[in-house]
Amino acid sequence: MTAAATVPANAAPAHADTPRSQRAARQQQRLARRFLSLDDFEPAAQRRLPRPLFGYVAGATETNASLQGNREAFAQWQFVPRVLVNVSAREQSVELFGRRYEAPFGIAPMGISALTAYRGDIVQARAAAQAGVPMVLSSSALIRMEDVLAEAPGTWFQAYLARDLDAGLALVDRVAKAGVDVLVITVDSAVVPNRENNARNGFKTPLRPDLRLLWDGLTHPRWALGTFLRTLVRHGMPHFENVEAGRGAPLVAKDVTRDFSGREHLDWDALKLMRQRWRGALVLKGICHPQDARRARELGVDGVIVSNHGGRQLDGTVSPLRVLPAVAEAAGSMTVMADSGFRRGTDVLKALALGAKSVFIGRPMNHAAAIGGEAGVAHAIALLKSEIRADMGLLGVNHLAEIGPELLSRRQDRCLSTIPETLG
Ligand SMILES: Cc1cc2nc3c(=O)[nH]c(=O)nc-3n(C[C@H](O)[C@H](O)[C@H](O)COP(=O)(O)O)c2cc1C
Repeated sequence: MTAAATVPANAAPAHADTPRSQRAARQQQRLARRFLSLDDFEPAAQRRLPRPLFGYVAGATETNASLQGNREAFAQWQFVPRVLVNVSAREQSVELFGRRYEAPFGIAPMGISALTAYRGDIVQARAAAQAGVPMVLSSSALIRMEDVLAEAPGTWFQAYLARDLDAGLALVDRVAKAGVDVLVITVDSAVVPNRENNARNGFKTPLRPDLRLLWDGLTHPRWALGTFLRTLVRHGMPHFENVEAGRGAPLVAKDVTRDFSGREHLDWDALKLMRQRWRGALVLKGICHPQDARRARELGVDGVIVSNHGGRQLDGTVSPLRVLPAVAEAAGSMTVMADSGFRRGTDVLKALALGAKSVFIGRPMNHAAAIGGEAGVAHAIALLKSEIRADMGLLGVNHLAEIGPELLSRRQDRCLSTIPETLG
């Protein structure tokens, strides 16, 4: 691991010698010793969080076929590196929607992040802003978008299509007023998925104030005191703040049910209305089929995130990596991004080679926030940046634009002579 991985952009300067900066420096050292890759955060988060919460974050749907497939898809591709290239000018910045970011990845939208980490959405957004990468705030967040944007200007916002279109348009107006530039609409969620793992683990929103919740608190004191009770004492009962233009349901309630249904009728006409109303960059998240990418392009959408929602929607949905080339071709001038299962710098480079411009990371950032707050997320971002930098050097490239399919080989290819002309 290089120094870049251990010292995030927002770490206190070494000469600053206040007790606070010394504490921060010690925390950085601890994080650097314990967490050497994004996967290292998961077992630590499992110990820190109550079982229902960890299960909600780490889990997927039904048989977990897509969750597993997302990792397997990366193994299908291998690199064909170039050697003796002067790689001393490596840089990994990328331009998305008129803004330059310092790395080709960002943080995916994740609901109720403020339940797994204290002020979870804010710590993710601040760490991302400090590191110069995008973070997408979820419409299922427990912190108001206005508060997150005040802490981290430039944060993107994710919405679902609202079952009531007027309510959806009112939300779009609120998003614009909050100063968001990029609106992501998630379109893979027409109906509620079969997340039986949530039932098995006892997870539900709103949370019920019952003996189980009490037991979870007693058996996970660091989470109970450092996240849950600290939130209640300092900020009151969290609510779903960004589902619509007004405030949504409380997080803990006896008699309230969150109703996710009623979106079955929404189609491209609904999206058309959103496009007409929203003047900023519009991104569709959850696209897998090239024809949907084409349709989005015809409607004036600016970008797509090829995604199976981290395996959390339709179980058995194809892994983004497998459809990326076809979607990229259909997308034309739209910006193509991807998420689901990205854990390594090499994963990111494979997606770029297959047509993505950038990718998003979900669960590991949530786990990192649960363990280390803003410093944890900063460390996770620095780790991935550092991996990408080393991997680019070993691949023989200085700029992301040099990465294309000619640097990849499909795993079933038996020897180099079977690789087509692309190798030239
Ligand atoms: C805990 C959790 C909550 C999520 N909430 C949302 C959400 O509110 N909106 C959304 O579009 N996607 C949501 N997602 C999906 C992520 O945005 C992303 O597609 C997925 O996590 C990427 O896969 P990965 O976790 O394997 O990196 C959520 C994912 C997780 C793990």
